[in-house]
Amino acid sequence: MLKSLQAATGALFALFVFAHLINTWLAAFGARTYDGVQEALRQVYQFAPLEVLLLAAAAVHAVIGIVRWVQEPPRTLSKRARWHRRSAVFLLVFIVGHVAAVRGVPMLYDVFPQFAGLAWSMQFAPYYFYPYYFLLGLAGLYHGANGLGIAAGRLGWRLHISSRALGSITAVGAVLMVAALLSLGGVTRDVGPVHESDFARLGAELFGIEP
Ligand code: HEM
Repeated sequence: MLKSLQAATGALFALFVFAHLINTWLAAFGARTYDGVQEALRQVYQFAPLEVLLLAAAAVHAVIGIVRWVQEPPRTLSKRARWHRRSAVFLLVFIVGHVAAVRGVPMLYDVFPQFAGLAWSMQFAPYYFYPYYFLLGLAGLYHGANGLGIAAGRLGWRLHISSRALGSITAVGAVLMVAALLSLGGVTRDVGPVHESDFARLGAELFGIEP
C-alpha cells in the first residue's frame, strides 16, 4: 500500500520534473526559447489546484521515502537502488530551498525568475550555482527516470528501463545541463544586463547588496 502510494505520487511528480528539465535544457537556446516555453508550461503547473496536487504528491512521496529509509537499511539494496537513494537525499536537502527561492519568494513579490533571473544568480555566485544546478538537474533526472521504472513495475505498466538505458539517459542529461548552464552563465551567449531584471533587483534588495 505504502509502496504503491509512493509509486503513484512519484510518477505524477515525475511528469512535472521531466517537463521542467526539458525547459531548463532549452536555456541553451537563449532567453526567448526558455521564457516562452516556461510561460506556456506555467499555465498548466501553476494552475492552483494542479500546483497544490503536484507539491502534495512530492511531499507524500518524500515522507514515504524517509519512512522506508528507516525500515530498509542500505546493505539490503542493489547498486542502482543505492544511487536512487543518494539522489533522493540530495533532492531532499535542496528542494525546499529551490522551491522557496524560485517560486515562494517570487510569488510573494509578484515576479518570475525567468532566464534573466537565473543568469543573474549565476553571475552573483558562480561557484555555488554551477555545481548546484548541475547536480540538481542530474539528481532530478536520475531519480525521475529510475523512479519511473520502479513505479511502472509497481503499478503494472509495461515499461522497463535497463541500467544501460538509465546510464545513457543520465549521460545525455549531463551534456544538456552543461549546455544550458554555459548559456545561462553567459559563456556561450551574451545574456545582456541581467542585473537589471526584476528577479535580480528583488534578490539584491533581499540580500541588501548592489544588483
Ligand atoms: C537543474 C536545474 C533547475 C533549474 C535551473 C530550475 C529552475 C526553476 C525555476 C526558474 C522555477 C520557477 C518556474 C516558473 O516561474 O514558472 C522553478 C520552479 C520549480 N522547480 Fe526547478 N529548476 C531546476 C531543477 C529542478 C528539479 C530537479 C526539481 C525537482 C526534482 C525542481 C522542482 C521545482 C519545483 C517543484 C518548482 C515550483 C513549481 C511551481 O510550483 O510553480 N526543479 N525551477
